[in-house]
Amino acid sequence: MAALRLYRHLLQPPQCCRLSSRAAQAFPVLRGDILPIHRHVYEANSRNSDRCRERYLELTEKVKLGGGENAILRHTQRNKKLLARERLKLLLDNENFLELSPLVGLGLPYGDVPSAGCLAGIGKICGIWCMIIANDATVKGGTAYPITVKKQLRMQEIALQNRLPTVYLVDSGGAFLPLQAQLFPDKEHGGRTFYNEAIMSALKIPQVAVVCGSCTAGGAYIPTMAEETIIVDRIGTIFLAGPPLVKAATGEDVTAEELGGAKLHSRVSGCVDHFAATEQEAYSCARLIVSTLNFDPPPDSCADFEDPLYDTRELGGLAPRDYSCTLDIKLILSRLVDGSKFLEFKADYGTTLVTGFAAVEGYLVGIVASNGALTHDAALKGSHFVQICNQRNIPLLFLQNTTSQEPLPPSLSKAEVLMNRLKAQASMMASIACASVPKITLVVGGCHGGESFAMCGRSFEPNFFFLWPNARIGLIDADCAPPSRLEEWDRSEDGEEFTDLLTRLKEESSAFYSSARLWDDGVILPEDTRQVLSKCLQIINQRKYERATFHSSPVLRM
Ligand code: COA
Repeated sequence: MAALRLYRHLLQPPQCCRLSSRAAQAFPVLRGDILPIHRHVYEANSRNSDRCRERYLELTEKVKLGGGENAILRHTQRNKKLLARERLKLLLDNENFLELSPLVGLGLPYGDVPSAGCLAGIGKICGIWCMIIANDATVKGGTAYPITVKKQLRMQEIALQNRLPTVYLVDSGGAFLPLQAQLFPDKEHGGRTFYNEAIMSALKIPQVAVVCGSCTAGGAYIPTMAEETIIVDRIGTIFLAGPPLVKAATGEDVTAEELGGAKLHSRVSGCVDHFAATEQEAYSCARLIVSTLNFDPPPDSCADFEDPLYDTRELGGLAPRDYSCTLDIKLILSRLVDGSKFLEFKADYGTTLVTGFAAVEGYLVGIVASNGALTHDAALKGSHFVQICNQRNIPLLFLQNTTSQEPLPPSLSKAEVLMNRLKAQASMMASIACASVPKITLVVGGCHGGESFAMCGRSFEPNFFFLWPNARIGLIDADCAPPSRLEEWDRSEDGEEFTDLLTRLKEESSAFYSSARLWDDGVILPEDTRQVLSKCLQIINQRKYERATFHSSPVLRM
């Protein structure tokens, strides 16, 4: 199964089309005015979006502090190391960095692990988009919690799906020992990171590592499995067991430097390939390595595009507070796509799903957007449109706002309607699962029930999966459960249990709860959506500029 997935990506032709501005200009313009009759819904959504935005900013500030002030002082003053964000500044061309899943790791059963103790995202090095995975040693010495492993594996998956060279900045005490049972033994646990490095190398996705701190135990394999590795003198160390363990086992006193320092590994063991006297030198060296990767740097973002005709700041008022506050999805589209222009496909058929072509900052996309329940006709139309985009190599953008509310069939004929809807949704799911074009999913409202799968939910492997802060994710939509059934339950003996369940359901459905568990690639603000989508499309587009041909053997360290 894994092999099948790998080869599907491998066989994908270069994706993503830049739309000539002339072609885009010919598309019809969407009407995006908010009518007075919708003003109260708009205001209710705005108030909710403001609250969600505040929470988003609060959490963003919190994770920026990593392990806290004392840990930062220990890291910078005692250990004389740069912070993960300072390292990124030296490594990347500029601040054009798509940070992924920054809010992961908050409020987990084992406590807060800000950003899962590892900063990750996609930025340009020497003009090439690269995936960067950087341990944050201010969070418990950069040790790997279960959520850290999950984040690293997801980042590798994104790098694999989008064929991004991957640079690891390793500064980690290895496994967080109290939780070893949750991060060592299973398939999708720590060892998978090393397996992926080999597989990606074999698929000609370059693997580069900088040892800029401790690489203990499991951490030691990341630089050793990489194709090319740099180590920083007096800061970088690699060993399977540190000095205290050596002392305990053999009684010998040995320093970290003697046991696995930069000189030892660059001169004696050959575990690394480049010695850097300072961190600055190490990141310059990493940039030079990336410049040898044989890519033609893709052009900078397309300057030739029109802004939407409607204000993107109004998106907060269109982000549904709950399903009943949903306005026409075309109001959102008119604030996301170039010139508010949209070439609709099957405009009068299955109207609860909107499909069509548009450009985002000059990049052509096929849009599939929820505009109500995914009926039989809507699902058939979705399936047809996905196949067209796949045929033409056009990336797909899903805007999801689904609910779990299923009307109970009052008659046999109604049951038949529902069965037909189910069959059409299954066909849409199959079209999406088998489409090899890149997919981006953005949850603008609800992500509930079976329809969420047909709108390219997480399990359908979109290349990127983002949430707006107002998004709600859960099997059942707590605000939309069929009222008759709820009232019945509420009045029953289990009334109290029911209230608790509903409270938990609401809490567990929040975008922040989801993002903390890495069920998505991050929460993004509505007003930033165009820029984020544009970056994703540029990243996807990079494949066109790769010169290397495929082969199937990793680079082995000799
Ligand atoms: N598991 C759990 N906690 C760990 C840990 C591990 N493997 N390694 C470090 N920590 C914790 C420390 O207890 C400390 O916690 P505290 O802040 O609550 O006191 C915190 O991480 C920072 O460690 P500290 O030793 O104070 O920082 P440092 O910068 O001086 O050293 C390391 C960091 C990673 C080099 C050092 O802690 C170390 O060598 N750890 C052991 C690594 C190891 O043997 N790993 C084996 C994994 S299989």
